[in-house]
Amino acid sequence: MSRQGFYFGAGPAALPTPVVEQAAQEFIEFDNQGVGLGELSHRSGQATKIMNEAKAQIKELLKVPDTHEILFLQGGGTGGFAACLYAQAAYKFYKSNGQAKSVSGDYIVTGVWSLKALAESKRLGIQSNVIAKAEKFVEIPKIEKVNGDFVYYCDNETVHGIEIQGEKTTPPVDFDNVCVDISSNMFSRPIDVSKYSIIFGGAQKNLGIPGVTLYIVRKDIIEAQEKVDIDQLRNAGFPVAPSFLDVGLAVKNNSAYNTVSIFAIEVIKLVTARLLANGGIPEQTKISKSKAEKLYNAVDSRKDVYVTNVKPEARSRMNVVFNLKNPEDEERFLKEATALKLRGLKGHRSVGGIRVSNYNAVTEEACDAVVKFILDFK
Ligand SMILES: Cc1ncc(COP(=O)(O)O)c(C=O)c1O
Repeated sequence: MSRQGFYFGAGPAALPTPVVEQAAQEFIEFDNQGVGLGELSHRSGQATKIMNEAKAQIKELLKVPDTHEILFLQGGGTGGFAACLYAQAAYKFYKSNGQAKSVSGDYIVTGVWSLKALAESKRLGIQSNVIAKAEKFVEIPKIEKVNGDFVYYCDNETVHGIEIQGEKTTPPVDFDNVCVDISSNMFSRPIDVSKYSIIFGGAQKNLGIPGVTLYIVRKDIIEAQEKVDIDQLRNAGFPVAPSFLDVGLAVKNNSAYNTVSIFAIEVIKLVTARLLANGGIPEQTKISKSKAEKLYNAVDSRKDVYVTNVKPEARSRMNVVFNLKNPEDEERFLKEATALKLRGLKGHRSVGGIRVSNYNAVTEEACDAVVKFILDFK
């Protein structure tokens, strides 16, 4: 069975075709055991091997230092908004020997996803401050002084197409407790893991399929969540993590405290093995940059047809967002693209327009096809 045309969806997103082919085979029959990967026990020896290989490859690709643990939880990126907060609550309380009465986060709001993370904080009763927010989501806001216990930000805002730029992912403020959402740009450039307390991202864009979220968490945060007295924490008015979002429990149980999707972890294993075989993050960084440049050059060269609102210094390499000058042309743009088998180009429903997602699995060939279409569209 072959795949038709090219897919530029924002997530779930395109996966490398050889990975999809291998995973499809393994869904039917894995390791000649008469069982497929959707059926295999998450506690079996084979499952543990898959888990450990996936983690080892991530460690190698992102150069994760021994100060940090790699783990997987369920609950997607949205689960990550909450998991960070539960972990930070436990950390503050544990570190203060049970004296702390509250925890507060400083949020940098650059788009929809950091805004949602902020809303989650309010929902869980954690006092949060906004230390930077752009009036419109077209730029990176100026960051004021940090006052809270931790800083939270999103490295790439998938909906508005805004990314904190740089050769590597590194915090925009100098602080020793920074949480980052890397759901939509992980593995596209290096990350300075040592500068973060909690790194997380849903797998379904650059790493795998929905159903599993990657976390890289500093060991002192893990230790706090493992050792904190749950009753005291609750009695002091802090939110207590449900078991499935507890990073301490996850590490203790090799990310299989409850039934994890071993199929989803296998896809991560296959994607990361392929990345390693193809030159790792340095090579992927070059490819991502070059494809993004081609896309923005195409859009910029047709100012008669397209409008881009995101300021150049905030442009995402992963999500190229633009509008048609004449909004009535948008539907025709999408229709003509679909006729050429270029799919998944519709902007997020909250902002409209066009969004070309340029994740790792979008090949040069796919990129060139959409670039040609952007240039040719009349
Ligand atoms: C940057 C970012 N963070 C978080 C999320 C939420 O992820 P989920 O739908 O897995 O909860 C998304 C979803 O697209 C995202 O792009």
